[in-house]
Amino acid sequence: MARQRILRFPEGFLWGTASASHQCEGGNTNNQWYRWEQQGHILTGEQSGEACNWWKNAESDFALAEQMENNALRLSLEWSRIEPAEGQWDSAALDRYRAMLTDLHRRHIKPIVTLHHFTDPIWFAERGGFADEANIRYFVRYVTYAVENLRDLCDFWVTINEPNSYAFLGYLLALFPPGEQDLTRTLHVLRNLMQAHVEAFYVIRRQQPQAEIGYCLHYHILDPANELSPLDRSVAGIQNTFFCWGALQAAETGRFPIPLSLMLPSLAHAPGSRDYHGVDYYTHEMVRFDPSNPAEIFGRRFIRPGSIRNDPGKGIDFGEIYPYGLYRVLKTIYRRTRGNKPLYITENGFSDALDDRRPQALLEHLAMVHRAISEGIPVRGYFYWTLVDNFEWAEGWGVRFGLIELDPQTQERIPRSSASLFGEICRANAISEELVGRYAPNALEIIFGTTNGAPHQIPV
Ligand code: BGC
Repeated sequence: MARQRILRFPEGFLWGTASASHQCEGGNTNNQWYRWEQQGHILTGEQSGEACNWWKNAESDFALAEQMENNALRLSLEWSRIEPAEGQWDSAALDRYRAMLTDLHRRHIKPIVTLHHFTDPIWFAERGGFADEANIRYFVRYVTYAVENLRDLCDFWVTINEPNSYAFLGYLLALFPPGEQDLTRTLHVLRNLMQAHVEAFYVIRRQQPQAEIGYCLHYHILDPANELSPLDRSVAGIQNTFFCWGALQAAETGRFPIPLSLMLPSLAHAPGSRDYHGVDYYTHEMVRFDPSNPAEIFGRRFIRPGSIRNDPGKGIDFGEIYPYGLYRVLKTIYRRTRGNKPLYITENGFSDALDDRRPQALLEHLAMVHRAISEGIPVRGYFYWTLVDNFEWAEGWGVRFGLIELDPQTQERIPRSSASLFGEICRANAISEELVGRYAPNALEIIFGTTNGAPHQIPV
């Protein structure tokens, strides 16, 4: 019998899931998302309510992560709990976070803590939030306080989750609060969030010199509808620059590329202000030149026809399941940054309520991570989005990303097949042919065959 083929991951590789406070905790009534929900903006008409009940009992879900032999877990702190009114600190909220982090340590799960994941205290939003550069100091003050009080329990910080999603969804696409549609403001918010990261980085570095500090960007690839069309190519290139590659360049050099640099000031002290690249990757889209769409820089986005899809939401179509895109993103970051830092996949996931595409999708994405690692790209961890179904922002409970199904009414949890698959991968720190054969036989050829998962050779 032929020897089993196995993709082994490096020793010490971090395996976990990612989550965010507002999506899981429940009872958050003091941030701008709560107000947005109250104003009826959630497309399903729902509210986050008790969410996954983590404020009262995150520990029972941590136990599920432990059963899956996850060695890390990414969660976020809710600024609006820690600083409910400007300059007022809630020590009981910190105690709750201390209890959660302590519980994770007890289970030998390394906490990865995000300091800002889309939510702002209402008082901060009322001052103009991150649209006003002068407000960065409030964020930095909160970070200083949080890190000072939690640094004995965490040494891996994500300062800000996806500055680009926060800016574009809230200030251009109007799907997130404050629901604006203004490109110039969008770009300033992006720039201010990135500057906020830089300032937070140096504060944490002083407080905790040995900590790993970074942030994550959302890498959403846009490919030209017609490779041969110069207009499609240039509009795809510009949208890519606006959404993610311009931000990466600014993070590395302090300067945004043209045309962003014509509108945005440089970032002060940016070079060197990250210990790792946090990579959030979900999908790609095609884009075609469309002079009737100036709001999106003359590009019309669409999903590749005939592709295997995530479950769509009402406002966001989560689009194609495109594993090769993860490889492309890792490779491009590595190349553009000359391999200067380790990479962590801080988020990658699939909306699939029936769990009939997720096992194969998960395996194929991980095979792409493995391929990147085998080519020398220092990827050090993978965080699946998410552990249990959680409140999906503007989509409410309408789309389900969890390894574990959650009924928000009864709080009952039912592990999906993907949960046991992920558990087996984490336990083995590897993906074997036998495992793929059991969970997603259709992926055997893609993962272990000669095609190596590349559906078509798009240059990275
Ligand atoms: C966000 C998560 C969100 C996920 C799925 C990510 O961009 O960080 O909060 O739930 O996408 O939409």
